[in-house]
Amino acid sequence: MKLQLTSGDSFSIRKGQTVLGALKEAEFYLVASCGGKGTCGKCRIRIIDGSFEVKGSGKLTAEERKKGFVLACQTIPLADLIIEVPEDSKLTVGDKIAISKGRDLFELLLSLGGDISPLVRYLDLNLPHPTIIDNISDLERLKRALKDKGLEGLRFSNRFLKDLSGALRKNDWDIRVHYADCLGCSLAETGTVTSGTNSLEALFISAQKDTPRYGIAVDIGTTTVVVYLVNLDDGRIVDVGSTYNSQIRYGDDVITRIIYATEKNGLEELTKAVIEDINTITNSMATRHSINKEDILSATIAGNTTMSHIFWGLDPGSIREEPYIPTVNFFPVWRAGTAGLNINPQAPVYTIPCVASYVGGDIVAGVLASRMHRHPEISLFMDIGTNGEIVVGNNEWLMTAACSAGPCFEGSGIKSGMRATKGAIEEIRFNPNTLEPEFSVIGNGKPIGICGSGMIDAISEMFLNGIIDQKGKFIKERTKRIREGDDGPEYVFYEDRRGETTFSIVLTEPDIENIMRAKAAIYAGVSLILKEAGLDLNSIEKVYIAGGFGNYLNPRKAILLGMLPDLPVDRFVFLGNTSIAGAYLCLLSKRMRKEAEEISQKMTYMELSVSRGFMDEYLSALFLPHTELERFPSVMEILKGASPL
Ligand code: FES
Repeated sequence: MKLQLTSGDSFSIRKGQTVLGALKEAEFYLVASCGGKGTCGKCRIRIIDGSFEVKGSGKLTAEERKKGFVLACQTIPLADLIIEVPEDSKLTVGDKIAISKGRDLFELLLSLGGDISPLVRYLDLNLPHPTIIDNISDLERLKRALKDKGLEGLRFSNRFLKDLSGALRKNDWDIRVHYADCLGCSLAETGTVTSGTNSLEALFISAQKDTPRYGIAVDIGTTTVVVYLVNLDDGRIVDVGSTYNSQIRYGDDVITRIIYATEKNGLEELTKAVIEDINTITNSMATRHSINKEDILSATIAGNTTMSHIFWGLDPGSIREEPYIPTVNFFPVWRAGTAGLNINPQAPVYTIPCVASYVGGDIVAGVLASRMHRHPEISLFMDIGTNGEIVVGNNEWLMTAACSAGPCFEGSGIKSGMRATKGAIEEIRFNPNTLEPEFSVIGNGKPIGICGSGMIDAISEMFLNGIIDQKGKFIKERTKRIREGDDGPEYVFYEDRRGETTFSIVLTEPDIENIMRAKAAIYAGVSLILKEAGLDLNSIEKVYIAGGFGNYLNPRKAILLGMLPDLPVDRFVFLGNTSIAGAYLCLLSKRMRKEAEEISQKMTYMELSVSRGFMDEYLSALFLPHTELERFPSVMEILKGASPL
């Protein structure tokens, strides 16, 4: 069957397949923040012609349904179908990531003293042809040539030997031997990997060629998956791709995924979902740049502990149960073929080590990219994504904790929420005279949703202008923009007629509650970790913020919201997606991999869920900005009118 778009594109669709599934397979991505469960209402499309079956209509209004709108994830064609995809349903693939611009990252690598030393290395050899006189075996001949070049003690797998005879003769004995550090072990185990060769393993043989070697750096977030395709010879980022993590269809956060993996026997499905996401992105980048997948020779994975376990098909069950113990923190280096990655199957895959059940390789990668582990001054690192992870420390010590913030700042669970990509309202200011909102949109076009920084701006501005109270409840008489919506009262930021329907961007009271719960968890986590470390706020010289906010988060507004501690704004540094930045560093450099392992070993983990003080701190933080206003002196000044925002 055929699925045709009004734009002219057409794709094939299998019997029983959803429109969302067929579009995804064709690399036409829709916003699907519930992963196809039919609950987020973001994958709206309009049927122009054809017969179809609908499994559910979720959040679609009666008016939308009347106009022919359906949810792509709930719609199965029964014959050829013609559909229209509204702009706000299209997912812009590609993150705006502040730290991660190609040159910046390469400079970061150099500034950290990292060289280009990927996991996979090679040696070109011109072997003499065997003769009746020189009649040693193929392997002995190879070892002899390697020894002549100073490389001894390599391990040879059965797989390598199976291919050896054919590879030598096919290339007429002029060969390239690819080998890797440390397969089957982690650097932390060997320690001395830089000096010894006894942990080196031969991977495969190819022709001697001039084409560049490539690798992929992967950030497996609970909500999104980001892949960088990197030239391993010069460190250049060739392309960037991202998509929603398809595991979302089995649950929004790590806990629901663990439950699915263990109680519903779904581990294999979850593993397959994320591997497919990575493969889909990698395949399209490789095709775009005419790169042979055999030339993609290594991968690094940065993910939280649950994501890293699921990627490798390891049972994450014990992560959720007291005393919260993961199977592995330091993952051995395994091969791409073992994972099912669609790159060279012999390519080594390095997983950035984790610290504990709820502080993973993404945070180790983040600390590495922030450089806080190199400096004597005390810094705070916060990664605000689906989980909120916090690290405090310096070059001598590091302490870490995690709190569950939920995916709201990435747009999930928020009626008009979206990620910080094209079309997102990223900044909001209210005109103090008219109380009308003014906003800026990423890409400067028409807005299609509101991202994390926009939500923070919106709530702090609404609070400041008396549109919501300290508990986040609307004061309806303040503005005509508050109306009764399907989920209760909602504030309308933007409205226009799109075709036959009215398109609105709103923030509902449940949205505000959701955001306040997330900010309270983050602030409570910061308060407790500082208390535990015996530090007061003023000893923090720098606060590094990582996560989807990138450069857009206004720290004054985040302080007004009570999410960030009340410190001078020049102490905040926004780094964007540091997980992918760290994965890039570790893909290229042995020194960075070693440093990542040292960071991981150095971190002391504090389990907030068993901390008696956490609930008290959390409940006190469920107000704007906080029940103890004296913790926010700069906000007190603003509220008194003594200081401008
Ligand atoms: Fe279709 Fe969420 S409703 S992806």
